[in-house]
Amino acid sequence: MRTVVVWDALGPVLSGAPRDVVDIGGGTGGFAVRVAQAGHRVTVVDPSPDALAALARRAREVGVEVAGRQGDVSGLLDVVGVDSADVVLCHGLLEVVDAAEALATIRQVLRPGGTVSILVAQRHAAVVARAMAGHLHQALALLDGDEATERTTGRNVRPPRRFTADELTALVEEAGFSVAGVHAVRVFTDLVPGSLLDQEPGAAAALADLERAVAERPEYLPLATQLHLLAT
Ligand SMILES: C[S@@+](CC[C@H](N)C(=O)[O-])C[C@H]1O[C@@H](n2cnc3c(N)ncnc32)[C@H](O)[C@@H]1O
Repeated sequence: MRTVVVWDALGPVLSGAPRDVVDIGGGTGGFAVRVAQAGHRVTVVDPSPDALAALARRAREVGVEVAGRQGDVSGLLDVVGVDSADVVLCHGLLEVVDAAEALATIRQVLRPGGTVSILVAQRHAAVVARAMAGHLHQALALLDGDEATERTTGRNVRPPRRFTADELTALVEEAGFSVAGVHAVRVFTDLVPGSLLDQEPGAAAALADLERAVAERPEYLPLATQLHLLAT
């Protein structure tokens, strides 16, 4: 349910002949293994040995091959090389790295005409979630971005960054990509109680339909927990 909109958007990108796919920060392979099951050659690059071990187990369980390489986005070119991928997945990574540098590297890894799939946390939904949980000061501080949160809380550890749709689009365009689409992800899924989905026949399918129905409506982007962006 949490990724239905992302998979819908990736469908046309991953249809057809097998492609070379690099999943940077691919972790335990939640996306990578399913992409490999669709017949593509997938390489996951991630700094975490534990995540790579879990990825290997997951791939083995379903009988697919996924290459797991230990590495950081800053050294991605050394691991996979220039012009080595038709598709790069960058899901849940731009929040914790220098986003502009990461995008510049990804651009070098992608072959001409290739596609990058980006998934990030969206800021406005995080403000509302903080307020609803009673963390009102945090909600206020988050309004103007994570740097403001950092100043307010005095933390010297950089908090994960969250993006608005405009900020993400500008970053991606500044890196030289052409944005093909931005999708609202998890607009309702985090708000609907799990018990309703378990007990009400048809509720899970209806929720998926609802997520799909608003994914490309710009007015729902600020309500989405995450943003998904495709760019070439
Ligand atoms: C939130 S998880 C996302 C995992 C996966 N992409 C997904 O969407 O399910 C972030 C992943 O980024 C990895 N990561 C953190 N810093 C990184 C870096 N500098 N370069 C590459 N990967 C990094 C972490 O080890 C972790 O597996």
